[in-house]
Amino acid sequence: MNNRPLLVQALNREPLARPPVWLMRQAGRYQASYRAIKSRHSFLEICRDADIAYEVSMLPINEFDMDAAIVFADILLPLEGLGVTIDFAPGPHIANPIQKPEDMENLVVSEYDAYSVVPKVISRLKDTLSCGESPKAVLGFAGAPWTLACYLIDHGPYKGFQGVPVFAEKHPQAMQTLLDQLTTTTIGYLAAQIAGGADAVQIFDTWGGLLDEESYRRFSLPYITRIINAVQTANTPVILYVNGSNHLLETMEESGARCISLDWRTEPSEALARLKAETVVQGNLDPVSLFAPPALREQKVRSMLESFSARPGYIANLGHGILQETPESAVLELINQVKNYS
Ligand code: CP3
Repeated sequence: MNNRPLLVQALNREPLARPPVWLMRQAGRYQASYRAIKSRHSFLEICRDADIAYEVSMLPINEFDMDAAIVFADILLPLEGLGVTIDFAPGPHIANPIQKPEDMENLVVSEYDAYSVVPKVISRLKDTLSCGESPKAVLGFAGAPWTLACYLIDHGPYKGFQGVPVFAEKHPQAMQTLLDQLTTTTIGYLAAQIAGGADAVQIFDTWGGLLDEESYRRFSLPYITRIINAVQTANTPVILYVNGSNHLLETMEESGARCISLDWRTEPSEALARLKAETVVQGNLDPVSLFAPPALREQKVRSMLESFSARPGYIANLGHGILQETPESAVLELINQVKNYS
């Protein structure tokens, strides 16, 4: 009897009767149960309390029977260890962003510690989910240094995050120092999650797609590669997600990530033709599809599953985080459709 989590088997490219399924940002405001907890605690209170963070991480497991739990936290939390003041309203706000290279001198170089709640939650999830006939995987995560820098650096007069590539070109040395520091912090953060029992960890490079390939090779890939070299082992693979990554698939693969998580704009057949056979693929349903009428939704999910699941090493997921107003019934139907697929 094989009682390892389905997601772990998929990451090892074992042939499976159906793909495992989980959703990025699967615990959150689209759930009535989460909103009830949020009416009593702020987002940061939830993240800082191991009992509540555990409870919230379990909500999508209890309600939708996902094949993996992702620890409830945020990519920006480790920045607090650098002396950065973060708030969520609910979008992230940084009280002391970097506006000029000298501001980096205010960053504290500290050992990872204040966040020990995250590995603690992972251990508890692992205790709950690793036993029984059909164990579930436990996932840790972190932001890519480039994406963390996008939140840390003031965007100046630019809309969106365009001010960050501008800062990077104007101050390449300072940018490198910052990305190095974020890389060191992230390695410690992910290593603690893996020590806590994470079956795999995902790196979110949400803003990596802003960069063309050449800039990605300077500002994001080397740091992600360093993190992966430091933390990925045979038993704890790394999943790499970059939003807007159609022009970066082969470059992402050079990081050594075991699994590439595709956004919704890349055609499955194109991705499979471009990626190596040994790369595990995750994705890539458009989160907006969950608002479509049932028949269209079902067709989109079937089309995704037919395209990807012919080969071993596939994890069903969305192409980006689930949207706030997503109907819970559509989530349940999606999960059930994947589970009944053969
Ligand atoms: O997947 C999960 O269920 C685990 C929880 C999780 C959160 N954030 C909780 C959260 C994960 C994996 C993240 C990752 C994250 N955080 C990313 C990368 C993924 C992505 O969506 O691209 C990014 C860019 C962030 C930064 C961040 N945190 C933003 C942009 C926001 C505001 C946008 C939003 O969704 O509201 C947050 C706040 C945040 N992180 C919330 C949650 C549940 C909402 C806060 C609340 O409930 O008030």
